[in-house]
Amino acid sequence: MASILALLCVVEAFPKPPRTIPPVNPDDPQRLPPGVTRNVLIVGGGLAGLSAALELAEKGYNVTIHESESYVGGRAHSVKFEALGQIWQVEHGFHAWFHNYHNFQDIRKRLDIDKYFVPWEAVDYIFKDYKPESIASKGPYPLNLLGIIFDSPNLVLTDALKAVLALPDLVEFDYNKVYQKYDNMTLDEWASLRRIPKDFFDIIIAPAASVTLNDKATISAAEMLMMMQLYFLSDSKADYRETATQNYLTALFNPWINKLQSFGVEIKLNSSVTAFVMDEESAAFTGITNDTTPGRYYDYVVMATDLPAIKNILTNTAEMYQNKPSLSGRVEKILQKITNLNVAPPYKVMRVWFDMQLEDSRAKTILETPNFVPINLVAQYHKLEKQYIEWANKTGGSVMEFHLYTWAHGDVPDANVWGIISPAVKQIYPEIFDRNFTILAYHVNTYQNFPSFEMGSASFRPNCTFAMQCGIPNAVFAGDWLHTSYPSALMERAVSTGREAANEILLKDRVKQVPLVVTSSYGPGIL
Ligand SMILES: Cc1cc2nc3c(=O)[nH]c(=O)nc-3n(C[C@H](O)[C@H](O)[C@H](O)COP(=O)(O)OP(=O)(O)OC[C@H]3O[C@@H](n4cnc5c(N)ncnc54)[C@H](O)[C@@H]3O)c2cc1C
Ligand SMILES: *[C@@H]1O[C@H](CO)[C@@H](O)[C@H](O)[C@H]1NC(C)=O
Ligand SMILES: *[C@@H]1O[C@H](CO)[C@@H](O)[C@H](O)[C@H]1NC(C)=O
Ligand SMILES: *[C@@H]1O[C@H](CO)[C@@H](O)[C@H](O)[C@H]1NC(C)=O
Ligand SMILES: *[C@@H]1O[C@H](CO)[C@@H](O)[C@H](O)[C@H]1NC(C)=O
Ligand SMILES: *[C@@H]1O[C@H](CO)[C@@H](O)[C@H](O)[C@H]1NC(C)=O
Ligand SMILES: *[C@@H]1O[C@H](CO)[C@@H](O)[C@H](O)[C@H]1NC(C)=O
Ligand SMILES: *[C@@H]1O[C@H](CO)[C@@H](O)[C@H](O)[C@H]1NC(C)=O
Repeated sequence: MASILALLCVVEAFPKPPRTIPPVNPDDPQRLPPGVTRNVLIVGGGLAGLSAALELAEKGYNVTIHESESYVGGRAHSVKFEALGQIWQVEHGFHAWFHNYHNFQDIRKRLDIDKYFVPWEAVDYIFKDYKPESIASKGPYPLNLLGIIFDSPNLVLTDALKAVLALPDLVEFDYNKVYQKYDNMTLDEWASLRRIPKDFFDIIIAPAASVTLNDKATISAAEMLMMMQLYFLSDSKADYRETATQNYLTALFNPWINKLQSFGVEIKLNSSVTAFVMDEESAAFTGITNDTTPGRYYDYVVMATDLPAIKNILTNTAEMYQNKPSLSGRVEKILQKITNLNVAPPYKVMRVWFDMQLEDSRAKTILETPNFVPINLVAQYHKLEKQYIEWANKTGGSVMEFHLYTWAHGDVPDANVWGIISPAVKQIYPEIFDRNFTILAYHVNTYQNFPSFEMGSASFRPNCTFAMQCGIPNAVFAGDWLHTSYPSALMERAVSTGREAANEILLKDRVKQVPLVVTSSYGPGIL
């Protein structure tokens, strides 16, 4: 074993640095020329829509955002909640910002909000059949992987090495080929094809699948291999992550809204888009059906809603123009492809205020619990965000958030959720029951709007220009459900596709595009 280690230490491997996608029109002007007005409609005020808005507004575009909810932020939102005699900001759910979120990091700098983020390095896991793990990647590849295996109380070095270091699918990862090769099988099928040792699969690979909110039994092997590249292999720090020290309204969305408003962006809340108005000659989307301002005209539309919403809007649009096949036919062409894309199973996020705090030394700020269905993760908010830290300090209480992905208990009242998850909570933190913690308040979110990355779905995933390819000349997509030409996922895919959407518009007007910094498409290389 020592000789394997020694051998690996002397062999050079090549972590792949991120790549910059430069503007295709570097010599064009930085912004719209004076006197030129371009009106842009952005549908959806989540991360994708806000990212597109930032780039376009900064370059002189007249941007209007229509958001159906009474708040921006989409699946990363933070809203007010009254309990225990005070107003709380409650997130849709706890989020982690990863090392490879290069475009998000750029946005954070421009909004001057880095001060609200702190690192969280080791990731703590508990399992049913293994000892707890605290996984931190240190040093360059392959030492980072070796270190993880070496420190693990569960993994046997030689088996794990055979599993990973010799595995071309990981070390010679190639983003441009991975979907073609592996989207036709599930993660489990891939693992048995490649004879991945069970412990290595259960401890390192399977937990990553749960963060996608997808059903582990059907998730595409290709999508998961991409995630391994993004969150683990491309860089020795790839698994480093940060958390916010303030609620997401303070840490992220208020600074973002202020910046947009300083450029004159109009954000219309409670404003749900139902269908687009189309120009009879050009087939462009020029407005929305029940706009209250007569004669308003948009030069461009960014479709930045979640997947179910954009399917609805486009279905309504096609119906409205069914007597004009030259218009409806183009919209139907878009629908024909994206109709095949599904949403992941429903999920809940439950935040609970208790009168006591855990004494258990395993009470980590964030604990991942991949085998304790229906709980995937527990976050102790009184150790994370300022308002919660202060309350816990005053009262001795605690606030814990339980992420309940692939919820299989149907439509139940919020009051019943704790009862359903109690058996799993008891296994994770028995102390809550042994010491008779009292629940002082709780808040439950229930949604089903997360893109499914099930096997076989990749070929139906459009990129941001797909509507243009279908003959709608002025409309672009943005959102975490799209295909990108580089590895990306979740929040980073949302902001990156927002920037891509803006770039398509900039190119049409011959305004210099904004560069993107993206994770390398290639694995660290064979030893
Ligand atoms: C519990 C949970 C935990 C997560 N954890 C992480 C994490 O740790 N790291 C990470 O990177 N990602 C995480 N994510 C994923 C991340 O939140 C999403 O990938 C990202 O927020 C998606 O942004 P988006 O702009 O593409 O879509 P959305 O946020 O869904 O934005 C779409 C917007 O469109 C609006 N809209 C819908 N219909 C209409 C309409 N008809 N008219 C106008 N507006 C409309 C919606 O209200 C919404 O604001 C997590 C998600 C959840 C739910
Ligand atoms: C900018 O957009 C707003 C809102 O859509 C509109 O009222 C205004 O007239 C536009 N400005 C110009 C110069 O077109
Ligand atoms: C949006 O609707 C909510 C709930 O009806 C209301 O409280 C809020 O004031 C509205 N916001 C705006 C900006 O219209
Ligand atoms: C998946 O596709 C590859 C490449 O086209 C093929 O070799 C393989 O047999 C397919 N596997 C399954 C399970 O369909
Ligand atoms: C359009 O009308 C519907 C139904 O009255 C409403 O819910 C929606 O918010 C309106 N949208 C806009 C953009 O005004
Ligand atoms: C609350 O904060 C004060 C000041 O930082 C500290 O001295 C005290 O120990 C804290 N109390 C609790 C219960 O954490
Ligand atoms: C918790 O409650 C049970 C039942 O009421 C009681 O038997 C037990 O002593 C209590 N435990 C503590 C630590 O208070
Ligand atoms: C989107 O896909 C089309 C067709 O495959 C391709 O030509 C185009 O370059 C892609 N655009 C982006 C931004 O990736």
